[in-house]
Amino acid sequence: MRTAPWPVWPERGAEEEAAVLRVIRSGRWGGYPPPGPETRAFQAAFGAMIGARHVVAAANGTVTLEVALRALGVEAGDEVIVPALTWVATAAAPAYINAVPVLVDVEPDTLCLDPAAVEAAITPRTRAVVPVHLGSAMADMDALMDLAEQHGLRVLEDCAHAHGARWQGRGAGAIGDAGSFSFQSSKLLTAGEGGAITTDDDELAWRCQSLVNCGRKEAPYDGFEGPSFGWNHRLSELQAGLLSAQLARLPDQAARRERNLAHLTALLEEHPELGLVPQRRDPRITRPAAYEVVLLYTAEAFKGLPRDRFVQALEAEGVPADGDFYVPIQDRVQEIFPLTARQYPEIRARYGEALTPESVHTPVARKVAYERTVWLHHGLFLGTTADVEDIVAAMLKIREGVDALL
Ligand SMILES: Cc1ncc(COP(=O)(O)O)c(C=O)c1O
Repeated sequence: MRTAPWPVWPERGAEEEAAVLRVIRSGRWGGYPPPGPETRAFQAAFGAMIGARHVVAAANGTVTLEVALRALGVEAGDEVIVPALTWVATAAAPAYINAVPVLVDVEPDTLCLDPAAVEAAITPRTRAVVPVHLGSAMADMDALMDLAEQHGLRVLEDCAHAHGARWQGRGAGAIGDAGSFSFQSSKLLTAGEGGAITTDDDELAWRCQSLVNCGRKEAPYDGFEGPSFGWNHRLSELQAGLLSAQLARLPDQAARRERNLAHLTALLEEHPELGLVPQRRDPRITRPAAYEVVLLYTAEAFKGLPRDRFVQALEAEGVPADGDFYVPIQDRVQEIFPLTARQYPEIRARYGEALTPESVHTPVARKVAYERTVWLHHGLFLGTTADVEDIVAAMLKIREGVDALL
């Protein structure tokens, strides 16, 4: 179906070249002492977009989760509630602290953390909850903030997919106690690698800055009690310069994506026979962001064709897509999430010697991950409505040829 190339990602041009050249010529390439002039400028612009008073830039969106949890007071043995359907970093961050990641189920339509499942998972050891604003949606921040208040929990939003999103007018990353962002290559805002923590809380920001800068405790981020045991997780000035250039592109990119996503939604509504439904966006999302466009597939609409065969066929038609972009974290113990009590002894009380696929019951995450989700990268939606029409035409062609596929 589709042979023409898709829009390039990341978009780049003279602004990025100028930013990198500016940093090279300045001779101030590294992140020490933080923040350098490029990092300071980026942090200010990013904080203004989100509505957060503090932004602490860091090396990536994995360390930002760990740093933020530590700064929030999470310690060995504490329980941290995370969704089972996410990138492994969300669950790895508490494990790195020797805290216990408690994997809970997601909602079948938003694919984000299910507040009822969170409530059921709370114990006297629960210290924090990490909602992930997954794909194109946001977690139910009203319900989760209420629960956090009732039970005295800290909330860290994992905003790796949600740069610029808003919930009831409040920026993702500025609703909970802190937000964590990734600027890795595939993300909505990128410098190849990078991350940031956002917060309104002065002391939390100081602690994060200290943890990112080897535990140094220097003015102006020395206003907290006790020593700090950190790492060098600083962002470089080269990356900060690139991020400022990319940030300026974000509003226009977001508008293009949303236009094309609205077109996709309308076309899918015109073709109910495809049975493909976009991930639900709560109406309380007042400004959406779309990192992955997630469609829910129904095999019955394709005479029982398994989701994976549908995704293969879509790719063969020239539409890049993923089926199991994420699978439940507990199913990844044989590859990139081998969580054992030998390495992380505090998990023993909850999981015994090791986390296994049977340790956790998340039927919704399992079902959607293995049978229903079709993930399309946001880069496909940066072009024209004709691109979107090609995607739907490929789906219609697959449906027409489904007997041959079966
Ligand atoms: C939900 C989520 N959290 C955290 C991360 C980690 O970010 P990074 O790749 O920058 O370490 C990612 C991205 O890979 C992600 O998708």
